[in-house]
Amino acid sequence: MTLAETALQMHNITIDFPGVRALDNAQFAMDTGRVHALIGANGAGKSTLMKVLSGAYSHYTGEILLDGQPVDIRSPQKSKGLGIQIVYQEVDTALIPYLTVGENIMLNHMVNEMGRKQLIRYSAIHQQAKKLLDRLNIQVSSRSLVSSLTLAEKQMVLIARAISTDCRFLILDEPTAPLSMTETERLFDIVRQLRDNNVGVIFISHRLQELFEICDDITVMRNGRFISQNNISEVTINDIVEKMLGKQLDEQFPVIDREIHQTIFEVEHLCDDEKVEDVTFHVHAGEVIGLAGLVGAGKTEICKALFGQANHVRGKVKLHGKPLNIRTPHQAVKSGLALVPEERRKEGILVDENVRTNLTAANLGSFVRVLSFLDFKKEKEASHKVVKDLDVKTPSIETKLAYLSGGNQQKIAIGKWLIADADVYIFDEPTKGVDVGSKKDIFTLILELAKRGKAIIYASSELAEIIGITDRTYLIYDGKVVKEVETRKTTEEELLFYSTGGRDS
Ligand SMILES: Nc1ncnc2c1ncn2[C@@H]1O[C@H](COP(=O)(O)OP(=O)(O)OP(=O)(O)O)[C@@H](O)[C@H]1O
Ligand SMILES: [Mg+2]
Repeated sequence: MTLAETALQMHNITIDFPGVRALDNAQFAMDTGRVHALIGANGAGKSTLMKVLSGAYSHYTGEILLDGQPVDIRSPQKSKGLGIQIVYQEVDTALIPYLTVGENIMLNHMVNEMGRKQLIRYSAIHQQAKKLLDRLNIQVSSRSLVSSLTLAEKQMVLIARAISTDCRFLILDEPTAPLSMTETERLFDIVRQLRDNNVGVIFISHRLQELFEICDDITVMRNGRFISQNNISEVTINDIVEKMLGKQLDEQFPVIDREIHQTIFEVEHLCDDEKVEDVTFHVHAGEVIGLAGLVGAGKTEICKALFGQANHVRGKVKLHGKPLNIRTPHQAVKSGLALVPEERRKEGILVDENVRTNLTAANLGSFVRVLSFLDFKKEKEASHKVVKDLDVKTPSIETKLAYLSGGNQQKIAIGKWLIADADVYIFDEPTKGVDVGSKKDIFTLILELAKRGKAIIYASSELAEIIGITDRTYLIYDGKVVKEVETRKTTEEELLFYSTGGRDS
């Protein structure tokens, strides 16, 4: 098929925001009935290009063609009218938590009916929503409240909504980041089903391995520009990494010489009211320990219980031999703990504040001089250092976080604790949504913290990362520690065995 016949074509798309050219003559082309990967480093312009296609911006230049005809997409209504649907990267903001699943799925229809001053027939709404849920094999009741759903279920609800109207192209912006292996498989089944129904699916992800499982074609972007388009079978992971970073990435895990000292952090019989059950572990100064387990195993709950964010926490926690009594995050920070939470957009950052404020807010104490004047110079220097070390793509440290790409927002959530001076650092899935190049920067900074004698707790479902970065690992299953292993003596297979419920006989 020649380019002229390709169903969707975007040519020379350019868009500027204050201080940044987000897209610079970008290109994209695909047909229906295909799954097309859109890949690039954090800030490369993937989400922006897809927002242009879905009518989020009216000020781009360039040309969009559908079936060879130029179309002027300057509003979401226009884009939807042409059969283009998007599931945004920020799942949480796209749903109305106090409405039911069915109402959320049928939202567009309901708005239309209200516009026509028709009565909304709730039984019909739920009936249609249920049909869609069934068709996608999603086991959620149409009458549940969205606020009671897991992240994965919310993701599925968004997809159901996207296909509730006529859909020729479906954009999924990092849909798998919060999903477990089984949930990802279910999503892939849905994607295949849509493709077989001649929908064109655009698939954005930083988990490069999975592209080979689900995608037919791949487009790589860098710095707002088009780099390449290939059939997925023509490229390897190394090719993709090289195209997206503009250089080869030799070793993903840095090696940093460091010493492991005495035990400084001890957790004994930790329990909460919901998930955490009798969790006992310890960390030495200079050591990185893993909390490894599948998505949903209870790692996040353990992190939250330690950080004063869970109800009725019981058990003992000691730092430098002294018992801590942490009931709130504020007390946790005062006691010398830092947590990079998993749901960073919700808990880790202030999207309406700028980069500098976000980086220093956790740590105002050390920037406040006598007479409580903020030490702006110190604050600025520290912010610049984090932006440089983590390669954060931002026009300046005064830029609002809302204007940074998803991955760059993540880096800020991590960076703010890197300047805080804590004794114990807890990282909960820190590399989620972060590109391969930046992952390595994050690993380096974590190992440097360890080298400075900090105790590091690294919670992750990415077993390769557990192997790559920890010294010792506790396997978590159903809220409990089921096994402790020394990392250099274990394998990914062994970790998988215990994290899927395997036990020593
Ligand atoms: N509304 C906006 N205002 C200002 N700058 C923006 C805006 N939207 C995007 N940008 C900038 O455009 C660039 C591209 O961002 P985009 O979100 O498209 O990246 P991305 O490839 O999706 O990255 P990620 O993998 O981190 O999600 C970034 O530098 C970002 O800061
Ligand atoms: Mg993005």
